Amino acid sequence: YQIFSLGSNPKLGNEIAKILGTKLSAIDTRQFADNEIYERIEQTVRGRDLYVIQGISDPVNDNFMKLMIFIDAARRASAKTINVVLPYFGYARADRKARSREPISARLIANMLESQGVKRVITMDLHADQVQGFFDIPVDHLLSMPALGHYFYENDLLGDDLVVVAPDHSSVGRARKFAELLHAEWAVVDRRVDNLAANKSYAVTGNVTGKRAILVDDIIDTGTSMVVASEALVAAGVTKIYAVAPHAVFSDQSTNRLVESAIQQVIITNTIEVPVAKQFNKLIQISVA
Ligand code: R5P
Repeated sequence: YQIFSLGSNPKLGNEIAKILGTKLSAIDTRQFADNEIYERIEQTVRGRDLYVIQGISDPVNDNFMKLMIFIDAARRASAKTINVVLPYFGYARADRKARSREPISARLIANMLESQGVKRVITMDLHADQVQGFFDIPVDHLLSMPALGHYFYENDLLGDDLVVVAPDHSSVGRARKFAELLHAEWAVVDRRVDNLAANKSYAVTGNVTGKRAILVDDIIDTGTSMVVASEALVAAGVTKIYAVAPHAVFSDQSTNRLVESAIQQVIITNTIEVPVAKQFNKLIQISVA
């Protein structure tokens, strides 16, 4: 087999190759003055099983197009199979029509990959498990929660005073599983508008007062969900707040918001490479390589 890393996350690509005791295969990638993408696979791939690592992360559309152009090149070069490793599946949040005349972009991505002959997708911490069903090819859906949970174990942070908290109702399933992993109780920030308390923080359902809380979500994008939930937890009397999420999208002013919040540690993975400019001292990154 041969492994390629297309540049969305070079460090992760190199780490995976190192763990497998192999080298990434060479590819000549260029972007022309008008931003068109050019990629040429530099050695024969005829009859080979190819694994291509490329997250659909910011710049989302360029990164996805790089993947599609690579797949086209690999197919035309007679690769035996093309297996796509998507550490981060961008557009996965667009997984249903919530309002009329909306697209289902996650399904579109799945169709585009499959119609180009991709034989297998390996991805991590999907926004919703059912996105697997958008494909008719095998999807390996890997979870980073054990690795994230291990952080609490190896740093001696477990204990009876720990509670796992879903920052909103859509994260309850994930929070419950994480709570089971850590043998902790769980709670939820009830983010319905009619549950806004007079002091402008949402109420929390579950026993959190006097405890250390771990907020668990799949993505930190603008940081709003985590920060709003942390305000509710402070109002409810927690003693310490950790925020845990596999995917650090970190758009807009998210990192400033997190730095200024009451959250004491933000624990993420490297499914998305965090640029140096967006790193801050309470950030802890766990490798999923
Ligand atoms: C939403 O459905 C996701 O599970 C996350 O809660 C969301 O993407 C977090 O985004 P933000 O950081 O912008 O609140």
